[in-house]
Order: sequence, then structure tokens, then C-alpha cells
Amino acid sequence: MQTLVVDHPLIAHKLTALRDEHTEAPTFRRLTDELVTLLAYEATREVRVQPVSVRTPVDDAPGVKLARPVPLIVPILRAGIGMLDGMARLLPTADVGFVGLARDEESLVATTYANRLPADLAGRDAFVLDPMLATGGSAVATVDILKKWGARHIKFVGLIAAPEGVQRLSEAHPDVPIHVAVVDDHLNDIGYIVPGLGDAGDRQFGTG
Ligand code: PRP
Ligand code: URA
Repeated sequence: MQTLVVDHPLIAHKLTALRDEHTEAPTFRRLTDELVTLLAYEATREVRVQPVSVRTPVDDAPGVKLARPVPLIVPILRAGIGMLDGMARLLPTADVGFVGLARDEESLVATTYANRLPADLAGRDAFVLDPMLATGGSAVATVDILKKWGARHIKFVGLIAAPEGVQRLSEAHPDVPIHVAVVDDHLNDIGYIVPGLGDAGDRQFGTG
């Protein structure tokens, strides 16, 4: 298992503003978008490419393009939706699949309510997006689904993790690298990351 916390002053600056309880939804969504673009740079470092050649005004130049089958981006609904545009900007030819999960507020168990994925995930790089890795239940359930559908090269990309979530995901799926901006202190007794940022879905989209 590999957990990568990206240590960068711009990420720390934007994360601080994101955590602030006074940050309103439009700014929260913009910061989420900017943060995922910064994190995605590192998370896509090993994305598969194939050689191509282009003609410049001067000569032929060797280069690369994203290999086929194209990568798959999987935002976990709802909160992961806020990370989709930033990731897709770096991987414009990627397909997008959706997994919807909601945590029960008492048991903290995540239940799947939506699953829309391409039929065959074999051979694809898959990037699971969710800003919060708390107990890890949602991330583990999503990776379980992706593996059942044939994915083998999966990365988790989040903003804030709890040590408990990192442990659970890496024990269940030691082959899945975890890329986050920060690992916070702990989970509180109602399953929130401390200090965290509160409920990432509500802060982006309201409580509806
Ligand atoms: C939040 C968050 C993660 C999950 C993390 O989603 O976006 O998906 O909790 O918690 P876990 O690691 O303990 O599973 P939530 O279930 O609140 O749904 P939402 O995104 O629709 O708000
Ligand atoms: N989900 C969130 O949105 N925030 C937390 O702190 C934990 C789970």
C-alpha cells in the first residue's frame, strides 16, 4: 500500500480556505476543483501512454498519447462529483463511471444506490474520486465494485483522510494507492474527520 500526501504550499493554502466554516458553497466548489487538479498531477504520474509522432513546422517529433482503453474516472456520488471536472481536465479522453453511496448516519455503513459503469474495466486505469476518506467504508465498497467489474489498476484520490480510513482501505485493497492532500487527526464518535471540513456533500450542494 502507498499513501501519498502531497506536500505543496498551494495545496495547503487552498485546503485551509476549504476547511473554513465561513467558506460558502460556490467558493468551496471552486477550491475543490482547483485542489483536485493539483493532486491529479501526481496521481496520474503512471497513467498508461503509447508512443506517437507529430509533425512540427520543422520536423517529426516523437511524443505520447493516452493509451487505449482510455482511463476511467469514478466520482463517488454525491461529494465526488465536485472533483470530476478537475480530473477530467487532465484526462480529457477518459470515460466517466458513477457509483452512488450514502453512509447511514448511525451505523456509518455505506449503502450503494447507484452504479453506472462501462461493461468491461479490464486493462483500464481507474481513478476513484471522493473528497473524504473517513471510516473508509465508501471507498472500500467502490473498489470492491470496480474489481468485480474487472478493474485492476485503481487509485483513490481524495482531499482529506482519517487514519482509520487509510488503514481500512489499505488493508482491504493493499494494491490501491491513496492520494490525498492531508491525513487528519482522527474520526469523532459520529464518524466525522477531525478537524476535517464537515460534510463535504452538504458544503458543496446543500443538505437536500
Ligand atoms: C461522505 C463522503 C464519502 C463518505 C466518507 O458521503 O463524501 O463518500 O461520506 O465516509 P466513509 O469513509 O465513512 O464511508 P455521504 O455518505 O455523506 O454522502 P454524500 O456524498 O451524498 O453527502
Ligand atoms: N463524510 C464527510 O463528508 N465528512 C466527514 O468528516 C466524514 C464523512
